[in-house]
Amino acid sequence: MDHLKVAIGSDHGGFNYKQKIIDYLKCRNIEFVDVGTYTMEACDYPDIARNVAELVVSGQVDRGILVCGTGIGMSITANKTRGIRAALCGDTYSARVSRAHNNANILCLGERVIGEHLALDIVDVWLKTGFEGGRHKRRVDIIE
Ligand code: RB5
Repeated sequence: MDHLKVAIGSDHGGFNYKQKIIDYLKCRNIEFVDVGTYTMEACDYPDIARNVAELVVSGQVDRGILVCGTGIGMSITANKTRGIRAALCGDTYSARVSRAHNNANILCLGERVIGEHLALDIVDVWLKTGFEGGRHKRRVDIIE
């Protein structure tokens, strides 16, 4: 996890959690790129989602984290980019299995849906969990 490089982004609806997650990444010396938004002013989540998705598929970062009000708009948009497997997670089990089975490369969270401490636990387990491969690789290959 120490060697991971992460891109993180949010719209105004996810801005507060983005800042909390950045604090978490800094505490653990995880390298990150903050693609914005940088204020609470309303902005368009698809622009942020696309920027994070492009950083992931181009290999400039290993994984991405996207936060909006629900996480839904971010996940819909991120999954339009070929090669992105964005998982909207509201619990730690889904977060773990999205990595172990689906090899999710973007985590989406909803600031207006889940509490801050749960969101940070989800980030923690999602970043720590590796892809199991094997039969799950065959299924991910079918997606791709
Ligand atoms: C912004 O009001 C809200 O629509 C956005 O953060 C997100 O929930 C979209 O899916």
